[in-house]
Amino acid sequence: MIKSPIKIRTLSELRAVLKDHRMAGRSIGFVPTMGALHDGHLSLVKIANQKSDVTVVSIFVNPTQFAPGEDLDTYPRTEDADIALLTEVGTDIVYLPSVEEMYPDGSKTDVRVADMSDLLDGIFRPHFFYGVATVVARLFVHVQPDVAVFGEKDYQQLQIIRRMVRDLGFPIEIVGGETYRDADGLAQSSRNAYMNPAERQKANTISSALHRARTRIAVGTPVAEALQEARASIGAAGFERLDYVSAVDPDMLQDLPDGALTPGQVARILAAAWMGPTRLIDNMGFART
Ligand code: PAF
Repeated sequence: MIKSPIKIRTLSELRAVLKDHRMAGRSIGFVPTMGALHDGHLSLVKIANQKSDVTVVSIFVNPTQFAPGEDLDTYPRTEDADIALLTEVGTDIVYLPSVEEMYPDGSKTDVRVADMSDLLDGIFRPHFFYGVATVVARLFVHVQPDVAVFGEKDYQQLQIIRRMVRDLGFPIEIVGGETYRDADGLAQSSRNAYMNPAERQKANTISSALHRARTRIAVGTPVAEALQEARASIGAAGFERLDYVSAVDPDMLQDLPDGALTPGQVARILAAAWMGPTRLIDNMGFART
């Protein structure tokens, strides 16, 4: 029988419901989201379902990760459609806290993961990872999950959360879910809905350019040469601004030297670029053959 998730809006109710599950010896899986759910999110919920007895999905558009002038007010809010999708995929609890519930009395406590938050996307959105780390730490305290699942599509975010969990000693297993792609390779994102059909048609250049660069670096092409080609093809496809295309070490996200990788060396290639009003990000992992 298909069962709708229980909707919970307050921390006190969440604690009471989860306490009963814990007392019954059930493990808790958690998928934090900002809603506007798509197949990528649902694939993360399926992982949480496999790895735990009870799955909690949070939907909270977190104001602290938006800078003034960004899309906080227009970010899609589709609660009923989200709950219908979560019902189909199977979810026990949807946590829908208010801003006051997440940040009571204006809250003065932030979580900052130094260095890793200030590179790549952090250069262009300096506030962003501080807001993400702060809200994810708070959500972890609210839900106290055994396992939490995040998409690899937001690879820098995933690594920052892994580091935060390690530094603060949260007893939580962090699992990365593979990026979910449309048939033409475009990574699924709630913000893809902002693109018009002409923009959407060109948007997959970002994934094809990364794919080609990764293939070239993996067979020994110098990093700088492959990245240069990727930048040129993204620019030629009609992206208005290219924030970065970088190849980094997959753990601490430090830029790799310009030359060829050594055999067996692992790497991650990441990009962010603007298609009209939409900022797209993508990344891929690989190893030098
Ligand atoms: O990836 C997201 O949707 C958000 O950054 C997250 C992790 C839910 C924090 O607001």
